[in-house]
Amino acid sequence: MSASPFIIVAIDGGAASGKSSSAKILAERFNLLHVDTGSFYRHLTAELLARMVPPGELATLQAVLPTLQLSTHVEGRSARMLVDGRPAGDEIRSGEVNAHVSHYSAVPVVRHTLLAYQRNQVDVARAHHFRGLVMEGRDIGSVIFPAADFRFFLHADPAERAKRRSAEGRQDSIAERDRLDSSRKTSPLTCPEGAIDIDSTHLTLEQVVGHMADLIAVKLPPA
Ligand code: C5P
Repeated sequence: MSASPFIIVAIDGGAASGKSSSAKILAERFNLLHVDTGSFYRHLTAELLARMVPPGELATLQAVLPTLQLSTHVEGRSARMLVDGRPAGDEIRSGEVNAHVSHYSAVPVVRHTLLAYQRNQVDVARAHHFRGLVMEGRDIGSVIFPAADFRFFLHADPAERAKRRSAEGRQDSIAERDRLDSSRKTSPLTCPEGAIDIDSTHLTLEQVVGHMADLIAVKLPPA
């Protein structure tokens, strides 16, 4: 019998478009490592805010970022980024980080800091005997893994997304983050050519995941 393939699933989309919920279920169903790259940008943002380095101070960013040691702790099926050995705290979901993260993530040296680290998650997934990884973000199908086995792009109506966030009891500047993320020069949020575009506005989470899982199952039987 031939060995199962190792697969890469990319899920991109705007804020609160359903990426994390879908990615977690797919990780469970197919035994994949779940990599939430938004949490990486949030963690770096919290770190830079704590060090009082604003996103506009390029020279300081260029000096500080290469000194940060990025490593990964696998918790269940999730990859958690450690910065100098420290895991992210609850503050990465705070209003302050929500308000600043898109300003930092628009800076090329910040994106560059995470580029190889994100690609290296393949090695982490293999080392932990996962059957692949599901990585969610804004530029996964366009920049990080353009040759991923599956590239999904999730859309949802802004009003529906705001409803989802407030149902989670979270304040979030969804529209402003999407505006900044879509208009930046480096790796903007965009549906890459050839990606599978899913509008989830009128779909349940089960329907969205069901559609993705049906496609993935052709290549990799559920675990
Ligand atoms: O996914 P989440 O909403 O937590 O992402 C937080 C922010 O991180 C985004 O608004 C975006 O500015 C940045 N991000 C990014 N590229 C990714 C993932 C997240 O620029 N691949």
